Amino acid sequence: MEKYIINGGNSLFGNVDVQSAKNSVLPILAAAVLTDGEVKINKIPHITDVHNMVKILSRLGCKSVFDGDGLIIDSSKADCHEIPSELAHELRSSVFLLGSVISRFRMAKIAYPGGCDIGLRPVDLHLTGLKRLGVKISEESGYIVCRCEKLKGNEVMLDCPSVGATENIMLAAVKAEGTTVIRNAAREPEIEDLQKFLNMLGAKVRGAGSGSVYIEGVKNLGGCSFTPIPDRIEAGTFLITAAMCGGKILLNNAGAENLSSLLHKLRENGCKIQVFGDKIELESSKKLYSVKSVETQPYPGFPTDLQAQFTALCCVCRGHSIITENLFETRFKYVPELRKMGADVTVVGRCAFVRGVDTLRGANVVAHDLRGGAALVSAALSAEGRSEVFELSHIDRGYGSFEYKLRALGGDIVRVRV
Ligand code: EPZ
Repeated sequence: MEKYIINGGNSLFGNVDVQSAKNSVLPILAAAVLTDGEVKINKIPHITDVHNMVKILSRLGCKSVFDGDGLIIDSSKADCHEIPSELAHELRSSVFLLGSVISRFRMAKIAYPGGCDIGLRPVDLHLTGLKRLGVKISEESGYIVCRCEKLKGNEVMLDCPSVGATENIMLAAVKAEGTTVIRNAAREPEIEDLQKFLNMLGAKVRGAGSGSVYIEGVKNLGGCSFTPIPDRIEAGTFLITAAMCGGKILLNNAGAENLSSLLHKLRENGCKIQVFGDKIELESSKKLYSVKSVETQPYPGFPTDLQAQFTALCCVCRGHSIITENLFETRFKYVPELRKMGADVTVVGRCAFVRGVDTLRGANVVAHDLRGGAALVSAALSAEGRSEVFELSHIDRGYGSFEYKLRALGGDIVRVRV
């Protein structure tokens, strides 16, 4: 087991290279199962969610090799339709594989991906959508078992714009007979990236980002070399951390066009932000003003994956803020840890009520999930005194070289064995 030791109070200065988007790479890895052609994903992020997805692919019989900054996948010898339960529990987003595994094998079996630290995480929309394409689904002793004679295009109406359900149905529809339309589809940039990747393989997908996605089934797919979009959540995490600590940072490969809702709020906080092409520069005096209210929404609204980090920022802004989490039921598990650092934040239902304090103070805190863990690191870096952050495995799921990047900016953070 490992922990971070952080001595807070340093301002941050320097450059950060943003990694490729975890939430783009994961569905693209699942999509690689659809084709016998060779797929190369460039600038692959070295994070445990990606490594676990690669492990699952190899259990399906796909060959993969890291090559320079990329990953090459060859699914031509894939021969297994069962997603191993121990890995499916480790990586909830393995449920995305259902669509591509069914498309390839006409069968798929996956352990029921349970809830996790941020909510129930049901998969009903995934399964309803797959049934619309002709998939027969049964639940057998904790497993979801899918079978279908032939996947047929159809219209699918999502009750809510689920990212994973949209992606799963896209993957199942790519080689189905006929056309599929997904209504009330998620609009996240990662959906558009998946569309771009699939079309490079030879698929016929359009409309991603618009709320309606159209997929015209094709018979064959080839290979491609693909560079995913930047990780807007990693980028946002660094911007928020610099806002809290004070200083001036420049993000390279930042993808500002996908961060409008956050940039708008950070300007309201009093940060000076400039965008030059794919770079974002943020300057913060550390004396920031609170924003009265933030509500997480599906894209292009404020992202739920930045809710924890932004709440930590509100804790050191002058004034009061209310943060409302509209997507997940229990995404405030980091709040008791922030309170150990002197934060004045109270959670009632889906709302966190924050009264800003001048500064937080170092404390020993525990990460309970990926983004909540990142928020604790940001808080510790801005606090006065020493903190220790435990359960780093949550953070390692989505942030590659996190402490290295923060140290390069002047953050006093080291990872040590417990
Ligand atoms: C994706 O999760 C992301 N993960 C999450 O990022 C992100 O928080 C989420 O989208 C929302 O943007 C990946 O892309 C790998 P959803 P996903 O289906 O697909 C409900 C991170 O930190 N729902 O859009 O699981 C669900 O309960 C992770 O990087 C159903 O009711 O999210 C939630 O309330 C965390 N039934 C809402 O939809 C379903 O079948 C949004 O969930 C599916 C979802």
